[in-house]
Amino acid sequence: MLSKRILLGITGGIAAYKIAYLIRILKSKGAEVKCIMTPASSDFISPLVVSTLSENPVFIEFWNKDTGVWNNHVELALWADIFVIAPATSNTVAKMSNGLCDNLLLATYLSAKCKTIIAPAMDLDMYQHPSFKRNLLQLISDGVHVIPATSGKLASGLEGHGRMEEPEYIAECIQNTLLNHSVSSKNILITAGPTYEKIDPVRYIGNYSSGKMGFEIAEKALFKGYVVTLISGPVQRELHHPNLTRIDVTSAHEMMEKVVENWSKNEVGIFAAAVADYRPIDISTQKIKKSESEFELKLTRNADILGWAAKNKSERQFIMGFALETNNSMENALSKLNAKKLDAIVLNSMENEGTTFQSDCNKITILDKRGGISTFDKKPKSEVALDILNFIDSAC
Ligand code: CTP
Repeated sequence: MLSKRILLGITGGIAAYKIAYLIRILKSKGAEVKCIMTPASSDFISPLVVSTLSENPVFIEFWNKDTGVWNNHVELALWADIFVIAPATSNTVAKMSNGLCDNLLLATYLSAKCKTIIAPAMDLDMYQHPSFKRNLLQLISDGVHVIPATSGKLASGLEGHGRMEEPEYIAECIQNTLLNHSVSSKNILITAGPTYEKIDPVRYIGNYSSGKMGFEIAEKALFKGYVVTLISGPVQRELHHPNLTRIDVTSAHEMMEKVVENWSKNEVGIFAAAVADYRPIDISTQKIKKSESEFELKLTRNADILGWAAKNKSERQFIMGFALETNNSMENALSKLNAKKLDAIVLNSMENEGTTFQSDCNKITILDKRGGISTFDKKPKSEVALDILNFIDSAC
């Protein structure tokens, strides 16, 4: 049960229609819900729907034009245990980050002392626009929690980032924040992405890892309040947060150096990188020219970064590895868990179609050192990330 007071701010984007579901979920969990709508949002969802579902009057203007009664934004802000703005349009994010207050929702935001969560929603080019990113960063450093938009089909017909997260997920984030599932004082080190092992000035040995899983874990960890050190191989991904230190590396050797430098400062380590097991013995300084027949490349083993971290782990540290397996998945994952002396290992079996490197979904099983086996359904990687962090929270 969530017997808390949730103030829901609705702004003028097409995703506003989903807020009806969000209100229902929150009410069904036992929350008291009051809603403030910007005038523009009533083009997207009727105030009657919002007031009926929330079982409370809806606040739109600074004063009621029929009765002349003032809608006290300070009182509303103080009433709330949490202020959630969903969808948050680019316009509202820009105004919030600059302290503008030309509507009741913005005046309430400026008066609020409780935690504020926003779930942005807009078209993909707006979401990528430097001005939006700048404003979002400002809000993050002002202490606002952000539920980043996801990727998918947009109202414009285009596909990409900008879709508001689903109501079920937003409700989960609200619950996590309210029930203080955050572990704000903990530091977490995450490795992500592939490594590239140089052959010559124009070639390398790499793999298909997109870094998505590691970055999702980092994003969700930030949301939960962790201070994150993300050591990433070469990926085309962006993540910004005041509590994030991102260290970009290329090779396994560089990744190892950065892990060695940072591991002892962290209480939790999640090693999600797809590290190359081998690197060329000699790196040619010149581009290697093709020969007529066969070509041999001599490789040598890279150090096991996860193995090093597990060997150099103190009692207070929790370490989790990943096992990507094509066959005998359970046996292989279990032997890695034991051989590397990990606290837990996330098994990602390639026997489950559409759940690995480049895909948006994952189906995982977590094996822990006490013999526990936790299985999870196939889900988007963002939700898998939350499952992994919730598992760690309960194990630590
Ligand atoms: N890992 C690492 N450093 C390496 C290799 C792997 O930190 N040099 C980490 C990965 O990030 C992952 C786990 O170890 O968490 C994967 O285990 P690993 O021993 O790499 O499995 P594989 O190399 O896939 O083993 P095998 O080839 O025997 O299946």
